[in-house]
Parts: sequence; structure tokens; C-alpha cells
Amino acid sequence: MGEKLKVGLLGFGTIGTGVIRLLTRKGIGISRWVELVKVADIDLERPREVELDSSMLTADAESVVKDPGIDVIIELIGGIEAAKKYVEMALELGKDVITANKYLISHYGDELFERAQKSGARLLFEASVAGGVPIIKILREELACDRILSINAVLNGTCNYILTRMEQCPGMSCQQAVKEAQAKGFAEADPTLDVSGMDSAQKLSILIRKAFRTRILPDKIDLQGITALSNVDVQSALEMGYRIKLLARASREGDKLTAWVGPALIPADSIMAQVKNEFNAIMINSEAHHEHTYIGKGAGMMPTAGAVVGDLYTLVNHRNIPTVFAEEQIDLPLLERTEVKCRFYLRLMVKDQPGVLARVSSALAARNISIASVIQKETEEDPKKEVPLVIITHEAAVGAVDEAVRVINKEPVVMDPTHIIRIMDVL
Ligand code: HSE
Repeated sequence: MGEKLKVGLLGFGTIGTGVIRLLTRKGIGISRWVELVKVADIDLERPREVELDSSMLTADAESVVKDPGIDVIIELIGGIEAAKKYVEMALELGKDVITANKYLISHYGDELFERAQKSGARLLFEASVAGGVPIIKILREELACDRILSINAVLNGTCNYILTRMEQCPGMSCQQAVKEAQAKGFAEADPTLDVSGMDSAQKLSILIRKAFRTRILPDKIDLQGITALSNVDVQSALEMGYRIKLLARASREGDKLTAWVGPALIPADSIMAQVKNEFNAIMINSEAHHEHTYIGKGAGMMPTAGAVVGDLYTLVNHRNIPTVFAEEQIDLPLLERTEVKCRFYLRLMVKDQPGVLARVSSALAARNISIASVIQKETEEDPKKEVPLVIITHEAAVGAVDEAVRVINKEPVVMDPTHIIRIMDVL
């Protein structure tokens, strides 16, 4: 066996701790081939869950990147500025880089791969999407020669946990479920990136780049978060045989691509609907492999650390890892958001009085949107109080539904903005 690969780790936080744990396990695994040489973090004092020889620890990340004795840099700093600076520096020096940084890869992946190509370095980023699910490897290797038709995925564990709890606890609001998720350590102190859907959009952007060889930056992905969902939506969906998931979807529509992230009603008996709590799932439909689904923990110390160390193993064992983000650039154009079609769930809060349904249905009919069913429960409370009215439509275009809802929301009997959720009967 030749020399061990020398590793420098930037970022000794939660994931860094997990990586060190895996790299310093005795007897098994990767320590036969790699050696952790240096660890950089701005905080040298904080107690950690793993022991590390203090001579290995430094606050000077640049010295680790530039250390001629280090072959591979693992970037777990997170954020963008420092992470980008050190990853660029390492790639320019011809050092292989492993990162878990979804922001960095989704926004700057192409630039970074260009740098890597120039210096002959390799860049791996398995941990940036769905932590414990090795989906990037599957796209890079198993599916490299297949033609992918669609990806449907649950890519955010925090939102999946929140939606699971809202389903299990009738009456629980999204905000209450967020608090519970924070108390249990599933949600960040500031969960905005998760509940807004942006975390999922960044991950979907990376999957699209690999799967469809098309570059769609996260802010070009049609995005709807989960904060406007009420428990009524979650329970009504259940009664109708659906579950609501924060879905990340990309699919070929002729010679175009659709890409969106948003809550969606999916059949309660589908595989994806069984994926609960903080789990992630990625369902791929491709010409050769047909439908296949991968499920696992998308976040947390050890699943994410496992993905990072899996990349190290790839560096050790595979000579010919592609040095490009995607094999070839195809650039499928995005189908206009307004042209995307599906069935819709509309939830209105209306006054329970004569003529309401007629007004709402005429706004839909005027845009050629056909109603499939209507649910309004009788209320024993004050009849003057607003009540939820749920309308399921037949297939319609997003643009037409948006327009109809703009009109509906102006009706004096409609008390709150109508909530629009997509229905995906077939994933
Ligand atoms: N916050 C993410 C989630 C994990 O809840 O899935 C990191 O991408």
C-alpha cells in the first residue's frame, strides 16, 4: 500500500465532529488509506464530542489549505464567503476537495469545476444533497448512461418532520410544529431556509445539474414554502386520501424542463407518502432503470458525515471520477411557471352564506377551470363565522389558477387569501 492520503478538515462543528469520529475509529474502515492531519476552526475552546490531539487543531484555515503535506481538503465551514475562498484556493493548488455546502455547489458549482479541471483536482459533494442518501453517486455512476425523465423528492427533513406532526396532531399549526422541531433539535434556531423551501431548491438545483445536465440556479426554481399551510389543509388532504409533502420536482415536458418546490398533495398510499419525520426520499424515473426510490436521513451528524467519508473513499478508490459537474451541458429551457399543469387543491376561508359557491365557481369557469369536488363542512358554531371551503380542480395551468384566485380573493365573502396547493396524483 502506498502513502496514506493526507486530509485537512475545515470546520469542527457537528458534521466535522462526525467526520473525525469516522476517520479515527480503530480497526475498521478508511483509516487504512487516509490520515487526518489538520483541523481548522475559529473556535478552539468549545468542548467537542470527540477527542483530538490539540497539535492538530488550528484557527488558521489558510495554513491548512496551503500545507504542502495535505492532499485533500474537506470543507464543512458552511456559509459562503470563507467556504468559497478556501475551496477555490485548494482547487487552484490542485488539491481534491470534498464539501457538504449546498449553497456553494448550487450557485458556484460550474465555476468551481472549471477551476478543478484546470488544476486536475477533483471536487466531490455527496453530502450537499440528502445527507445519508448517496444520490450524487447514483446519478454520477449508476445512472450516468440512463436518460432521466423525472425526479420527485422530499429533500428537507425539517419540513417533513413538521408536516408529519401536523398530520398526527389535528389542530397543530405549522408554527407550533416548528417550535416542537426546534425543541427536538430537528430545526435550526432560524428555520427560514427550510420552511421557505429554499433549502430544497438549492438541493434540487444540484440534482437537476447532474440528472438533466442543465443549469438552473435555485432562485429560478418556482418556490412555495410551507408556512401558509394550515392544519385544515393537512387533515382535509388525509380525508381525501392524500398526504401533503414539501415536494421538489423536476421533469421533462417535451423539450423543456419543469422545476418547482412546494407543498403538494400526493396519494397517501404512494411510497413517498410513507416517508415521515426527518427522512428524505428521492424518486427517479428514468428510461432504463424505470422508477426507483431512495430513502434515508437527509440531515444530522452521522448521516452527513457518512456521506463526506464516502467521498473520501471514492477519492481513494476511483481513478476516473468525472472532473466536470455534468458530463455535457444540455440546458433544457424551463417551461414557464404559468404553463405548468396539474390538478389543484384550493382552500378558501369564506362566509357561510348564499351565493358564495356560485361566485367562486364562476371565477374558475371563466378561466376554463373545471371543479372536480367541493368540501364544506357544516359548522355548529356561529354561522356568520368564516368556514373553510376546499375545492379540488381538474387539470389546469398554474397561470389560469393564479388569475382565478386573484379574482376570488377580491370577493368580500372571501376572508383570507386562498391557499393553492398542487395535487400530484402520479409522481
Ligand atoms: N436543514 C436541512 C433539513 C438539512 O432539515 O433537511 C441540511 O440541508
